[in-house]
Amino acid sequence: MEDTMIQIDHNFAGHHIIHGDTLRVLKTFPDALFGGIITDPPYASGAADQNARQKSTATKYSSAKAASVLPDFEGDSKDQRSWTHWMTEWLTEARRTAQQGAPICLFIDWRQLPNLTDALQWAGWIWRGVLVWDKINSRPQRGRFRQQAEFIVWGSNGHMPAGRNAPVLPGVFRQGMPPFKGRIHQTEKPLPVMREMVKIVEPGGIILDPFAGAGTTVLAAKIEGYPAVGIELAEHYANAAAKRLAEAGVVTDGLADAA
Ligand SMILES: C[S@@+](CC[C@H](N)C(=O)[O-])C[C@H]1O[C@@H](n2cnc3c(N)ncnc32)[C@H](O)[C@@H]1O
Repeated sequence: MEDTMIQIDHNFAGHHIIHGDTLRVLKTFPDALFGGIITDPPYASGAADQNARQKSTATKYSSAKAASVLPDFEGDSKDQRSWTHWMTEWLTEARRTAQQGAPICLFIDWRQLPNLTDALQWAGWIWRGVLVWDKINSRPQRGRFRQQAEFIVWGSNGHMPAGRNAPVLPGVFRQGMPPFKGRIHQTEKPLPVMREMVKIVEPGGIILDPFAGAGTTVLAAKIEGYPAVGIELAEHYANAAAKRLAEAGVVTDGLADAA
């Protein structure tokens, strides 16, 4: 892996998708490299029991036919205990690569919310709050509340000084899912939400997305003027993200294969 890895250092100014396993790739980065981590890990939650959890991600997450033709993604079949352990492991390594005071934002649903806030703190991050992503549309179920929201757990690597060079940001994002036509990933996040979220990172900070999927975070970072690195294990999505960045006119060094 090391032979083919691109070297990302503190002078990095571009946009890059690395194909590989986050835990392995993180270990190749120097300490205190990133100005912020913004990500959407596999939730491993879209099922009622262990058998159902091991089904394809299309079965678990795609209610619409258009999305179910998209390829499956990786890392979504762990039970809650294994998932929490794994989350703690990569979050610990990610904290080593984050600058002092760097923010972290992680998407999650209601089922894994308590496990995520445990994992974040076990890994040594300070938990600072929970944001709401109101997806507006959701399946109606008579006699029940709609599962209309997902959440973004956020925190920091130690003390966050007052007077950081970042704007006041919303605590609730109201934005529908990306339209099926043109969607690249089964669980793609809306670009407008990601464009707001990256602004928590101070200007010039390198943004890391350890679970890049279709590269939405890296694209948002580019549009908002931040350097950024995404890591993606599924080859199809690593390629799709690199292509998306290239087609968006983003300066990318291409796809680095770390698998
Ligand atoms: C929820 S999706 C991210 C979607 C992304 N936010 C977007 O807008 O397209 C999570 C991604 O993490 C990837 N993944 C799972 N395990 C991984 C690992 N160990 N290392 C790197 N990527 C991984 C999956 O293949 C999947 O594409």
